Amino acid sequence: MKLLIIVGARPNFVKIAPLLEQFKKDKKITPVLVHTGQHYDFLMSQAFFEDFKLPKPDYNLGVGSCSQAKQTAKIMLKLETVFLKEKPDKVIVVGDVNSTLAGALTAAKLDIPLAHIEAGMRSYDKTMPEEINRVLTDHLSDFLFVTSELDKSNLLREGIEEKKIFIVGNIMTDTLLKAKLKMKSEERDYAVLTIHRAGNTDKKGNLKEILTAAAEISKKIAVIFPIHPRTQKMIKKFGFVGLIKKCSNFKIIKPLPYLEMINLIKSSKLVMTDSGGLQHETTVLGIPCLTLRDKTEWMITLKQGTNKLTGVSANKIVKEAEKLLNGKSKLKTKIPKYWDGKTSERIAAILKKAHARG
Ligand code: UD1
Repeated sequence: MKLLIIVGARPNFVKIAPLLEQFKKDKKITPVLVHTGQHYDFLMSQAFFEDFKLPKPDYNLGVGSCSQAKQTAKIMLKLETVFLKEKPDKVIVVGDVNSTLAGALTAAKLDIPLAHIEAGMRSYDKTMPEEINRVLTDHLSDFLFVTSELDKSNLLREGIEEKKIFIVGNIMTDTLLKAKLKMKSEERDYAVLTIHRAGNTDKKGNLKEILTAAAEISKKIAVIFPIHPRTQKMIKKFGFVGLIKKCSNFKIIKPLPYLEMINLIKSSKLVMTDSGGLQHETTVLGIPCLTLRDKTEWMITLKQGTNKLTGVSANKIVKEAEKLLNGKSKLKTKIPKYWDGKTSERIAAILKKAHARG
């Protein structure tokens, strides 16, 4: 069974690592790895390949950064040639980035069975490119691998056939549980901040609110800010460098490799973020998380994890952070069913069974 796997951006690498390891154990599976090149900085891409000992991609499409439509279209054009040459039995896409949608559209048009890992997540916020990618990819997929019952119910509501939906758990937990074995001791004398969503970084007002909040919070606890290249560019463009520079306890650092990032979170007092991955990771690790957005596709982490939505108003963020720092807001966590480190095993078994049936 030839399985063509598409990755493009940082969160994809985290999700695909345990799957490739699983495939490696099975002589009947031939994986073909395609990197679209959506992320290209060493720290956003190659560092993760080294960290996870991922094989060198069979194809690197080198598309780089451009507008939403151009990036998606460029990936599709190049993928079509690869699909026609490789003739895979199935195409696998993960998450919700532009590479995910481009892979899904190209596979569907060539009538190649499509599997989507992390299907069914919904923020119901169509202003986010990721939401558009999620919905369209799901409606083109033949195998929808969901992280929870809640995601399955989202898909059923949209009329997707139940027989295509498989609750397999959260593949990022496979990666996280392995990493947990190598974690350091707890310190808890700092908070972590990460932002990169277009709605937060490219809108001057929102970016200012978030940085103002973080600067205020840094008067009470050190704030460590591993910065995404896009965020760094926008901070310079909007002239906000001074906002951070004047705060001695507000530390900007480079994007971190996976294990270092997980260690940083594990020993922190609280995390403030707009990342999807961090909402999941804080819930599994039991670290309070303030999500700097109005909506989230990780609804399950609000229901039973450590996550809380704050939006982007500086006042609200500071208030919620203070509650946590003063011990007034205790967030309990209950790790969702099937977030047990066995997701990649389940996915491989389902794909093999379907292949055997023909
Ligand atoms: C993308 C995903 C987002 C995911 C995030 C993880 C989409 C629509 N968004 O957002 O869901 O959470 O990756 O990081 O697919 N840039 C660099 N170097 C890089 C990559 C990006 O400098 O290696 C800069 C470029 O200026 C680029 C900008 O970041 O224009 C945006 O990059 P892009 O991949 O389009 O989106 P992300 O913000 O990274």
